[in-house]
Amino acid sequence: MTTARAHTNIALIKYWGKRDSQLILPYTSSISMTLDEFYTDTQVVFDAALTADELYLDGTKRDVTKVATVLELVRQQAHESRFARVTSTNHVPETAGLASSASAFAALTMAASAAAGLKLSHTQLSRLARRGSGSASRSVDGGFVIWHRGTDDQSSFAEPIREQPTLPLAMVVVMVSGKKKSQTSRQGMAQTVATSPFYPAFVEQNQAAIEPMLHALATDDLATIGRLTEQSSFQMHAAIMAGNPPFSYFEPETLTAWHMVQTLRDQGIPAYATMDAGPNVKILTTQPHVDTILKALEPEFAGRLTVAH
Ligand code: PMV
Repeated sequence: MTTARAHTNIALIKYWGKRDSQLILPYTSSISMTLDEFYTDTQVVFDAALTADELYLDGTKRDVTKVATVLELVRQQAHESRFARVTSTNHVPETAGLASSASAFAALTMAASAAAGLKLSHTQLSRLARRGSGSASRSVDGGFVIWHRGTDDQSSFAEPIREQPTLPLAMVVVMVSGKKKSQTSRQGMAQTVATSPFYPAFVEQNQAAIEPMLHALATDDLATIGRLTEQSSFQMHAAIMAGNPPFSYFEPETLTAWHMVQTLRDQGIPAYATMDAGPNVKILTTQPHVDTILKALEPEFAGRLTVAH
C-alpha cells in the first residue's frame, strides 16, 4: 500500500485543446503555479481479493471510470494483474471552487505506480498523470511548472521551470459559483477545437506567450506576468465563446469580479484575473496586496474568498 500527495495548480498560460485525445497531447505548452495549501492524498493497494477496481473519494464510493485509464497503464507497465482499491482525500476547501482533478490524477499516478513496484522518474510520472487529465501532468512537481507540448508521448511532459520567481506571488480565489460546470473541460476543449474559428489564433498567441512568460517569471517582472496571465485566459475564453453552438463558462458575477480587478489595477494595485473551465475568478497578486484585494471584494463576495500561494 502506498500513499502519495499532490498539489493543485492554476495555469498562468493555459492548456486548452488536444491534438491527440487518446494520448492527451496538447496543442500548446502551458505554465502553472502550484498551490501549496491545497492538495490530494491518495492511497492505492493492489489486492488479489478484489474483483474490480474500487474508488473511495472523501469517504464515498465513486465510479471508477475516471481512474481506470491510469490504473490500466500502471498495470501494463508493472505486469500487475490485480485490481486496485483507491482511497483519496481532497484537501481543497469546497468554498474555493477550485477543480481538484490535477492534484487527484497526479496523486493517483504517484501512489498507483509506487504500489505496483514501479520506480518512475518525475518525467515518467508526469507523462502518466497526463493520461488521466492534462493539467495533472503539472502537479507532480511543485513551484512554477511548464508542460512542454511535445510531439509524442515521450516528449509531452511537465517539469519545474529553470528560473523560479522570487516574488511572493499569491492567488485570491473568488467563488462565483459552486455549481457543477455546464460542460467539462474535455467536452469544452473538443468543441472549441472542432468549431471555433478563433482557435488557431489562440494556439498561435498562447504558444508565443511561453518564452515571454518564462522570462518574466525569471526576472520577477510582475506586470508582464500578470498581463500574459490575463491574456492567455481571455484568449482561451474568447475561443471558447466563438465555438458552435456559442457557449461560455462565465456567469454575470465573473465579470463583476473582473471589473473589480480592473478598478484595483487603476488604483495601482497589481491584480490580474484568470478563469478556467468554470465561472470562478482567480486573482494573481503578491502577498503585500492580498488584504487590500480582500477588502475590496468583501462587500460583494463575503464568505466566498480564499487565499492561496
Ligand atoms: O486537464 P484538464 O481537463 O483539467 O483541463 C484543464 C483546463 C484548464 O484548467 C482550463 C486550463 C489549464 O491549463 O489548467
